[in-house]
Amino acid sequence: MYNEKVMDYFEHPRNQGAIEDADGIGEVGNPECGDTTKIYLQVEHDVITDVKFQTFGCAAAVASSSMATELIKGKTLKEAWDLSNSAVADALDGLPPKKLHCSLIAEGAIHAAINDYRTKRGLEAWKEKKESHAEH
Ligand code: FES
Repeated sequence: MYNEKVMDYFEHPRNQGAIEDADGIGEVGNPECGDTTKIYLQVEHDVITDVKFQTFGCAAAVASSSMATELIKGKTLKEAWDLSNSAVADALDGLPPKKLHCSLIAEGAIHAAINDYRTKRGLEAWKEKKESHAEH
């Protein structure tokens, strides 16, 4: 069902864990299955210097959360915000269409963590500007 890259990121997740005293934390659940992803960010001068994730979910959710952390590490908050779940799925060489929605919790948790960081600093939360592209 999954390609080799997805299985590799599921079995050997990169950046799994928590960051103590994280600058931003976001957690999102998938309403369809109840699975969750939590993202921890360390931020310096608007750049993500460290990121970790904890996912309780299926292989697609774990792999896409792990891949998403790799893609946003070293990026600005704006660049991380603009990372779409379909770009994460592409970086994993694709997810089965019916599992694409599983990658949405990574995108959502990153957004929640960025807004947690922003609101803790008295900045306005960024708004979601588009419907996600997941197929259900
Ligand atoms: Fe729940 Fe994939 S089945 S996130």
